[in-house]
Amino acid sequence: MKLIFATQNQHKRDEVQAMIGDNITVISLQDLNFRDELPETSESLEGNALQKAEFIYDKLHQNCFAEDTGLEIDALNNRPGVYSARYAGIGKNSNDNIHLVLMQMQGIQNRKSQFRTVICLIMDGETYYFEGTVKGIITSEKRGTSGFGYDPIFIPDGGNKTFGEMTNEEKNEISHRSKAMKKMLEFVESKNDR
Ligand code: IMP
Repeated sequence: MKLIFATQNQHKRDEVQAMIGDNITVISLQDLNFRDELPETSESLEGNALQKAEFIYDKLHQNCFAEDTGLEIDALNNRPGVYSARYAGIGKNSNDNIHLVLMQMQGIQNRKSQFRTVICLIMDGETYYFEGTVKGIITSEKRGTSGFGYDPIFIPDGGNKTFGEMTNEEKNEISHRSKAMKKMLEFVESKNDR
């Protein structure tokens, strides 16, 4: 079974490739030399995941999936959430986003937060959703250089390393994205077996 992963984000592509078993082949947009920017203008993770998957399904007419992820911080009313990519404004980068979050969290005791991933799969014209979350806390400064996005300021519950201080394998074992991916892969494999 072949599935196209509708993303232009290289970090996400690499993470997902590392999670895939033998029965499913994931083809990236880069493999297809498809460079169009994907739309993500919705007010929800579900809406953005659907927009990206539909965009590719309409263009390429092949089974595909897309995901959208947000960092939801309790004390900031679940922000940055769906605005995670552009929290500090258009044209700003992950460092700027982290800087803004740390500034807004200054002096706040409640550091609870979660990463939430929603995957939208379009298979044979039907649409399915899968969700994965990981709970943790926001640090008061950046720690670690691996991963991407907000990884250096997020410590998942149960340890004291940030995602930015973990190897890819360590992050993949517990991450929001891997939980959502596992659900989708189980579903696709069960359909394949029928
Ligand atoms: P999007 O799902 O591509 O819209 O990603 C939103 C933003 O969330 C990205 O720009 C990253 O900064 C951040 N993000 C998404 N996934 C992760 C992750 O696994 N770790 C840290 N940050 C992430």
